[in-house]
Amino acid sequence: MPLVPMRQILDEAAKKGYGVPHFNVNNMEQAQAIMRGAEEVKSPVIMAASKGALKYSDMLFLRNIMGACVERYPKIPIALHLDHGTSVDICKTAIDLGFSSVMMDGSLEEDGKTPRSYDDNIAVTREVVNFSHPLGITVEGELGCLGGIEDDIGSGEEKLTNPDQVKEFVEKTKVDALAVSIGTSHGAYKFKIQPDPDKNLLAMNIIRRIHELCPNLHMVMHGSSSVPQELIAQINRYGGNIKETYGVPLWAIKEGIYAGVRKVNVDTDLRLAVTATIRKVFHDSPEAFDPRKYLGPARDAMKTIIIERYNTFGSAGHAYDYEPKTLEDMKIFYEENELKSSE
Ligand code: G3H
Ligand code: 13P
Ligand code: ZN
Repeated sequence: MPLVPMRQILDEAAKKGYGVPHFNVNNMEQAQAIMRGAEEVKSPVIMAASKGALKYSDMLFLRNIMGACVERYPKIPIALHLDHGTSVDICKTAIDLGFSSVMMDGSLEEDGKTPRSYDDNIAVTREVVNFSHPLGITVEGELGCLGGIEDDIGSGEEKLTNPDQVKEFVEKTKVDALAVSIGTSHGAYKFKIQPDPDKNLLAMNIIRRIHELCPNLHMVMHGSSSVPQELIAQINRYGGNIKETYGVPLWAIKEGIYAGVRKVNVDTDLRLAVTATIRKVFHDSPEAFDPRKYLGPARDAMKTIIIERYNTFGSAGHAYDYEPKTLEDMKIFYEENELKSSE
């Protein structure tokens, strides 16, 4: 097995200066695409399930699909991560299901919509760390609110992260990684024009400032799908109706990684790849009715995007760099850190 603590995957990425994509999963084909891509380019894996994914799959199914990845690919370090946990209870549920990492998104109230106050964010995030670290589980927090709204996540109001609050937030909560808000949003509709370095659509300065103030912090960029234009065109060519929209350019993600971003969250790009492929198969082969005839190509299309991201973010080639730690190792690590900080 290596079901690996996400903290180790991020620590190793920081040592060598690369980023690791976080891919969301809802079903078997997505999980297989992530793993087949990782095996091909030898990348560590962060596989994440949202609250919506757990609900859609009835939890047990997704847990076992993710577990099958760990069993089927015993040499690749894999962190199983809860995405956007909005309550203490959902984080506990994920840990009970066997996840090695949870996100407590304390930027929002439990409804996943209303922004939460800074002090409440600290309190709820600290509570999750308090029961997670003694079990060796990694915790990601969020400071600031992402723009946009996608399914059940997002207030629709953007609040960029204030770099001056970060050090205190991390010291008080003891999170292992922090999601920062720099102008990205979830879903396909991020920007009406293509971001370029002169337009300042993305506040890369926030990432650079946080890195100056907290050089050892692992930052996380959410809403980081690049919304490939060729996929949008393919969806529309075969009967879809996606309005003009642009995502986060890969150059911006690379700039973020250079300045301390270690985890880059991607979901929408895989959704677009699936939809573009299935629409084309339905158009080209109207006689087809075996789901394997369109889910198989959809899985391949996701794998192509996944490999591109492993290569671009730099995690390709690093799967076998280190001896995976266990959750037991991490318990000791956190205990020692607690002792040091109380001295
Ligand atoms: O952060 C949001 C992810 O894209 C998950 O979305 O809640 O629809 O699974 P979901
Ligand atoms: P995208 O919608 O840009 O893929 O973002 C996914 C995400 O942030 C998951 O937490
Ligand atoms: Zn997110």
